[in-house]
Amino acid sequence: MQTLVQKLLPRTTFKQVVAFRAYCTDKILDIGQPTASSHPELMKEGEITPGITAEEYITRRKRLLELLPENGLAIIAAAPVKMMTDEVPYAFRQDSDYSYVTGCLQPGGLAVLSHDFGLCMFMPETKPYDVLWKGKTAGVDAALEFFKADEAYPMRKLHEILPDIIRRSSKLFHNLNTASPAYVGLEAFQKAAVNDRVKDISLFTHELRLIKSTAEIKLMRESASIASQALLQTMMHSKAYPHESMLSAKVEYECRMRGAQRMAYNPVVGGGCNGSVIHYSRNDQRVKDGDLVLMDIGCELHGYASDLTRTWPPCGKFSAAQEELYELILLTNKECIKLCKPGASIQDIHDYSTKMLREGFKELGILKNLKSDLYHHLNPTSIGHYLGMDVHDCTRVGYGRTLKPGVMITIEPGVYIPSVFEVSERFAGIGIRIEDEVLITESGHEVLTGSIPKEINQIESLLNNFCFGSTMHGSHFMKASIC
Ligand code: GLY
Ligand code: MN
Ligand code: MN
Repeated sequence: MQTLVQKLLPRTTFKQVVAFRAYCTDKILDIGQPTASSHPELMKEGEITPGITAEEYITRRKRLLELLPENGLAIIAAAPVKMMTDEVPYAFRQDSDYSYVTGCLQPGGLAVLSHDFGLCMFMPETKPYDVLWKGKTAGVDAALEFFKADEAYPMRKLHEILPDIIRRSSKLFHNLNTASPAYVGLEAFQKAAVNDRVKDISLFTHELRLIKSTAEIKLMRESASIASQALLQTMMHSKAYPHESMLSAKVEYECRMRGAQRMAYNPVVGGGCNGSVIHYSRNDQRVKDGDLVLMDIGCELHGYASDLTRTWPPCGKFSAAQEELYELILLTNKECIKLCKPGASIQDIHDYSTKMLREGFKELGILKNLKSDLYHHLNPTSIGHYLGMDVHDCTRVGYGRTLKPGVMITIEPGVYIPSVFEVSERFAGIGIRIEDEVLITESGHEVLTGSIPKEINQIESLLNNFCFGSTMHGSHFMKASIC
């Protein structure tokens, strides 16, 4: 491989900054994120992030380069740090494309890939004063030795090195989501943009990320398992603590206690008619006795998201109207899952679900005829989406794409009836969604969220035969003290 960048700038900073610091009682290399030496409970030697080896990252980079046209250049920036106020940042989450290619979970860097030199990482330099506030971060030495970049330079050299590389490239592909002035502001980049030589790299990265490797599937199974266990615990807890905010707190606690780094999105905890607000996020009301609660939750485990939804009555008993609608959504969920196999597409499954739901709504008297436009108000969502590093993953890949083994999708039929619903008062204010994660396999599919109950008899049995780990008297006491 040609060392184009090296020719332009001799590497003077390499090995200058190798520093160790006391970490607990041992001397451990601190590069600002877990390593096998700092977190042996999480990582094995040879892994760049938990569960993903350096070889896998190198393969990802090779495959991305194979998609790049000859003389094409890829520029992927790390996510920016968003500030809450003054010097106080929001929790940082790395951009999925940058993370997928580099494994670096820290802000401030830029990854540049070309057929000439492979992966070149421009790394932020942490000054001693910054270390005082933020701790150590990965620099040039970590980029080369830990992230296995072919080339690495400090960010301050970017304007000396990158313009020439850009000028030599016929086409540039960059991450639109994280485009930063550090490189977009360069005259060479501006010229390339004016000449229509700049495109969005997600066209390629989403293609690569669509089919999960064995290691990624293992992480996604674990992420789904953590979220399922957490939601099960929360379901049982809901009889004693029927408050949206408490259920949200409980599910997050249970996910993080099981090793998740964060929630994959703000949990949706909608009691009663709040369940018919599809991305409800206030989570600030008490769930009324007899109402359903809809919880749509997922966590992130080492970069991989889970996403599942259950709807149940915390009081322990579905009403007749709730039961009729629930059975329709459940049947749609189960029938759609049966369709998940290589050769089908999300669009095919969506079309099938629409047909089933229209017929079901008509039978229940909710739609006057099968073609009614009201349907789009009752269910405006897709039957599912791709799932992976992002919750709505690989959005550049259309839903008409034929499913292949290794693709992960969700199946999430729902019904969202407004609180004032003249067509049928008995269904007014009911929101139901049942969402599962489905991995497409050679022989069909595997449901990753199958451990969490969704049959009415299972849910009622779970809620009514659980004494909250103590006596019934104890749970009544807690209920009384909170409501
Ligand atoms: N939780 C977002 C979704 O299910 O699409
Ligand atoms: Mn979903
Ligand atoms: Mn969801």
